[in-house]
Amino acid sequence: MEHVSVLKGIVQKYLDLKEGDRVVDATLGLGGHAEDMLKKIAKDGKLFAFEQDERNLTEAKKRLSTYSEQIVYIHDNFRYLKTRVTGEGSDKIDAILFDLGLSSPHVDDPERGFSFMKDGPLDMRFDPRGSLTAADVVNKYSEEDLVKIFFEYGEEKYARKAAGRIVERRAEKPFESTIEFAEFLEGIMPKKRSGKASKAHPATRIFQALRIEVNDELTVLKEALEQAFDLLEAGGRIVVISYHSLEDRIVKQFFKKLEKPEVKSPEEALYRMHGDPLVEKLTKKPVVPSPEEIEQNPRARSAKLRAYKKI
Ligand SMILES: C[S@@+](CC[C@H](N)C(=O)[O-])C[C@H]1O[C@@H](n2cnc3c(N)ncnc32)[C@H](O)[C@@H]1O
Repeated sequence: MEHVSVLKGIVQKYLDLKEGDRVVDATLGLGGHAEDMLKKIAKDGKLFAFEQDERNLTEAKKRLSTYSEQIVYIHDNFRYLKTRVTGEGSDKIDAILFDLGLSSPHVDDPERGFSFMKDGPLDMRFDPRGSLTAADVVNKYSEEDLVKIFFEYGEEKYARKAAGRIVERRAEKPFESTIEFAEFLEGIMPKKRSGKASKAHPATRIFQALRIEVNDELTVLKEALEQAFDLLEAGGRIVVISYHSLEDRIVKQFFKKLEKPEVKSPEEALYRMHGDPLVEKLTKKPVVPSPEEIEQNPRARSAKLRAYKKI
C-alpha cells in the first residue's frame, strides 16, 4: 500500500515543531507526515495519531515502528479529539495537522466503494464500523433528502433531476455497485456541462456528496476545529489541508471568526466592532502544490493548505 504525502516540506514549515512538543496528527493515513513530525519532536515529544481506518492504521504502525515509544495511536474519528487527547493525559498540545479526506488505498481498493472507475459495492465508509453506507443513502433516502445532499455536498446543479431519476429506478431494482450507479448517472445527466464540471465524469459531484454524507464529513470537521483550537497552547500551530471547496470554506470561515472575534459586551460594541484577534493567519492565501508536485502525484491537484497560530 502506498500514499504519497501532499505538500510535505510546507506542512513541516508551518507546523514549526521543536524537540519535546506534544502534537496531534488528526489524519494519520499511512504515516507520511507523522514520520516527519516524529523526527522533529524527537524522543521527548509525543504524537497523538488519529486514524479511523483500521487498515491504514496497521500500515502506519509498521512504518513508524521505530518511534512507537513516542506515539499514542487512537483508532477513532477525530471528532472525539478533545476527549481522547485529554483522556491520554494531555490537556494542551503544541501543534495539530489535518490532512483531510481519502488516502490512496481507499481509492485503489474497489471493495471500499469510493471509485467509479473500478467496480465495487456502494460503500464509502472511512470506518467500516460505521452503519451507514452509500447504498443506504442512494436506496433509502427520500427524494427531497437526496436533492438536498446533492446540492449542498456535491454542488450539483442537476440535483433535482438526478434524485428524481434515482428514485424511479431504485423502485424497480436497488443500486448495488459503483459502476452500475456511475453508468446510470452518465445516462441521465446532460452531456454538455459548463465550467469545471465539463471535463469531470458526470458522477463526480454525486459521488462526492455521498461520501460526505456517509462520513458526516463537514459536521465532523467543524466540531474538530473547535476542539483543536481549545486544545492548542498559545503560540501553537494548526495546519489544515483540504481537498474540496466545501471543506476549505469551513476552514476559512472558522478562522475568520477568530481573526476578528465579535466583541463580547454591548458597551465595548459602542467603540469597536471586533475584539482582539485570537489567531494569526500564517498563509495569506491558501498554499497549493507546485505543477511539479501535481505532475508526480495527480491526487494532490485539489489540495489547499491553510495555517494559523493561536495567539
Ligand atoms: C489524506 S489521508 C492522510 C495521509 C497522511 N497524512 C500521510 O501522509 O500518509 C487522510 C486519512 O485520514 C483518515 N480520516 C479521514 N477523516 C477522518 C476522521 N474524521 N477521523 C479520523 N481519521 C480520518 C482517512 O481514513 C485517511 O487515512
